[in-house]
Amino acid sequence: MRVRAILVPLVTFGLTTACEPKPAADVAATSAAPAATASLHDRLGGRAAIATVVDAFVANVAADPRINTRFSRVATDTAAMRQFKGKLADQICAGTGGPCTYSGLDMKAAHQGMRITDAEFDALVEALVKALDGAGVPQKEQDELLAILGPMRADITMK
Ligand code: HEM
Repeated sequence: MRVRAILVPLVTFGLTTACEPKPAADVAATSAAPAATASLHDRLGGRAAIATVVDAFVANVAADPRINTRFSRVATDTAAMRQFKGKLADQICAGTGGPCTYSGLDMKAAHQGMRITDAEFDALVEALVKALDGAGVPQKEQDELLAILGPMRADITMK
């Protein structure tokens, strides 16, 4: 999977450089500085890898009878589905520090009047976790992504 393909060189690079001896002065100069961390967007593999996860996520949602009827409009309209997936990928890309612009509705407006329950929200998160697992996204990155999406629950449910 692309996510793994990107993570492996990153890890290898980290290990290789960590093993090289450093002059004492360098160690003193750098030890106080925080290690540069790639954005979550980059660690997920970028917009294309995110789009692949969104594809699997939406397929999981479509296969889940607890929530799939909610998505009947996009499920029966190819152009609407493409647009919907694009918005999801842009939202995740932008929210994880990537160079994307999310131009969809805010979460309150997007789900207004749907009266989505907590159980439905949990089912959707399950579908996402399954997609992330399938793509080989490590637990750390999954936790970071869910920490970004989790607080949206308040705007999405029972509105
Ligand atoms: C963190 C969780 C969620 C995120 C990030 C999310 C994100 C989005 C986004 C970006 C849109 C498109 C907004 C637009 O059209 O501008 C959308 C629409 C929608 N969402 Fe959510 N959503 C979440 C949870 C849920 C849940 C739990 C349900 C129901 C089980 C749900 C049902 C829908 C429906 C039915 C639409 C409209 C689809 C259409 O265009 O027909 N969402 N959501």
